Amino acid sequence: MSESSDPQSGLSNLLHEERRFPPSEEFAAAANYSEQAYEEAAADRLAFWETQARRLDWETEWSQVLDWSGAPFAKWFIGGRLNAAVNCVDRHVEAGRGEKVALHFEGEPGDTRTISYAELQRLVCQAANALTELGIGKGDRVAIYLPMLVEAVVSMLACARIGAIHSVIFGGFSAQAIYDRVLDADATLVITADGGYRRSSVFPLKPVVDEALAKFEGDTSPVRHVLVVKRGGNDIEMTEGRDLWWDEAVARQPEQHQPEFFDSETPLYILYTSGTTGKPKGILHTTGGYLTQTAYTHHAAFDLHADTDIYWCTADIGWVTGHSYIVYGPLANGATQVIYEGTPDTPHKGRFWELIEKYRVTILYTAPTAIRTFMKWGEEFPSKFDLSSLRVLGSVGEPINPEAWMWYRRVIGGDRAPVVDTWWQTETGAIMISPLPGVTAAKPGSAMRALPGVEADVVDDQGQPVPNGGGGLLVLTQPWPSMLRGIWGDDDRYRDTYWSRFAEQGYYFAGDGAKKDDDGDLWLLGRVDDVMNISGHRISTTEVESALVSHPSVAEAAVVGATDPTTGQAIVAFVILRGSAADGGAEMVTELRNHVAKEIGAIAKPRQILVVAELPKTRSGKIMRRLLRDVAEHRSIGDVTTLADSTVMDLISEGLAAKGGKAAED
Ligand code: WT7
Repeated sequence: MSESSDPQSGLSNLLHEERRFPPSEEFAAAANYSEQAYEEAAADRLAFWETQARRLDWETEWSQVLDWSGAPFAKWFIGGRLNAAVNCVDRHVEAGRGEKVALHFEGEPGDTRTISYAELQRLVCQAANALTELGIGKGDRVAIYLPMLVEAVVSMLACARIGAIHSVIFGGFSAQAIYDRVLDADATLVITADGGYRRSSVFPLKPVVDEALAKFEGDTSPVRHVLVVKRGGNDIEMTEGRDLWWDEAVARQPEQHQPEFFDSETPLYILYTSGTTGKPKGILHTTGGYLTQTAYTHHAAFDLHADTDIYWCTADIGWVTGHSYIVYGPLANGATQVIYEGTPDTPHKGRFWELIEKYRVTILYTAPTAIRTFMKWGEEFPSKFDLSSLRVLGSVGEPINPEAWMWYRRVIGGDRAPVVDTWWQTETGAIMISPLPGVTAAKPGSAMRALPGVEADVVDDQGQPVPNGGGGLLVLTQPWPSMLRGIWGDDDRYRDTYWSRFAEQGYYFAGDGAKKDDDGDLWLLGRVDDVMNISGHRISTTEVESALVSHPSVAEAAVVGATDPTTGQAIVAFVILRGSAADGGAEMVTELRNHVAKEIGAIAKPRQILVVAELPKTRSGKIMRRLLRDVAEHRSIGDVTTLADSTVMDLISEGLAAKGGKAAED
């Protein structure tokens, strides 16, 4: 663990939460799962997972549930063969549910599309045929850089259908981020759009892809084709022989496609996420176990009743939440869902609530940062709309504070709908810790306990479980079906990051601090490494530091995540400027903020940049982020005894006081 991590620090204010919210009798009686699920899973965990796997259609059944002999590289449902796209689409059509709506698409400008499962099948088949025609086959990597469009879902499923591996890149990421990901995965096709809508204007996507691919020298780009969906209508350039319009390449394809069935462990996708170094990790997921757990958890944690529920997850497909709880889980379960292209405040701050009323949404899955934003905007926006259809409310991405939890339940859920705080990660692939809405008497702010089939614990530095009332590090003590199968191209980093810390016990180290309350229920306390959580998005301090020092005026940079009332954490950077630029000023600060946005993406733009003369370092040269966090959060500065030069913090504080915080603004 790095110097800055101190899982104990959040534990001093032990939470004494007395409130309990059990489901109503009516809800419990109709729920998909009861207390019995915990007992079944505890009695025979692998048999429990087999039962969940049977919710899917397999062409060939597995001969063994789990092979953990190659730990930490797991294999689930060995010998089983299936096709993820067939499970998400075709099987529902074959079962006579072809006319059921799969997707209610709502564009930001107000345009809509209603896609039935039969229509989705035709679209996926056409796209699969087009990919095949472009030479894409099993194991090939396809980068997807799209807004929240029907084509995004179709592209992912088309890849899955032919055994190609998709790598979705969030539409807010920069050209550099695309370049890094295309290079790392050796992607041969990029699927993008001309542009997308955000806050009533069109933002470019294809030009960013062009810029990314131009970074490859000579003919070193692995990308053979770029497939472009028309959406924004913005002017773009098309490179002859490389670039094709979706409307031309896909729309003319036959609407049938004969699927092939793949081994359970066939790679399904790579999704990059930030680690503690500047280089993002390509998290690898495979097919059978991943689909089993996403479908099961979507059915369990949200109590999905596919025939009657209207489900809406507000995430973007660029994040794992979009993969698992827009595409694979809900579609495998045959759900009807809403997908929305835009932001919650366009054209007005009641847009989400308007959509819930319009589609009679019954299950909503969103993030604490959004909930806190809605709280700030005020109750008058949701109160204008009829939200009585809602019956389950989900939260994900960061710890939800009890206040936001209570507001969510009361204002959005009408004091009726259970709130499920779901803990999981890109790496876990699916929800791991969450209440069961028909079973659990939930506590505001707690993710409660591991779902049936999942084994989690909180341990001390030595890997010993802490007693109830104690705090420490969250670990997963048994393999689970949707676990990552590695980091793309970097087995050593996979072992080091997740399995070396508690190697003796064989535990997976999640990187989160947690507390067990007196009842043994779990409270997640945030990251214990140098990873920040900004609006539920993971960004590493090193990544932002690298972006800052890539600017010619920056000599050194240190970045911390400071507590922020809306975004959970916010990025605060401390920079030392080079000679002539050294006195900086507001313009320089603005320039640096924009530079980071250009290097990584707008989500990584620091809230504040403080120009300083020195940075606090240990004798071994490691930046003491803990002290910088004290400054960023306006606290008195903690223990400085390990600093090489103990006067540095005085200098920083005095410098900031002298500037009156001016350098902080832009
Ligand atoms: C990290 C994973 C899981 C999809 C979205 C984020 C934090 C996530 C919770 C929660 C407290 C949470 C953790 C975790 N996190 N959900 N319910 N309570 N913290 O995926 O980008 O892989 O980030 O998000 O710190 O390690 P991700």
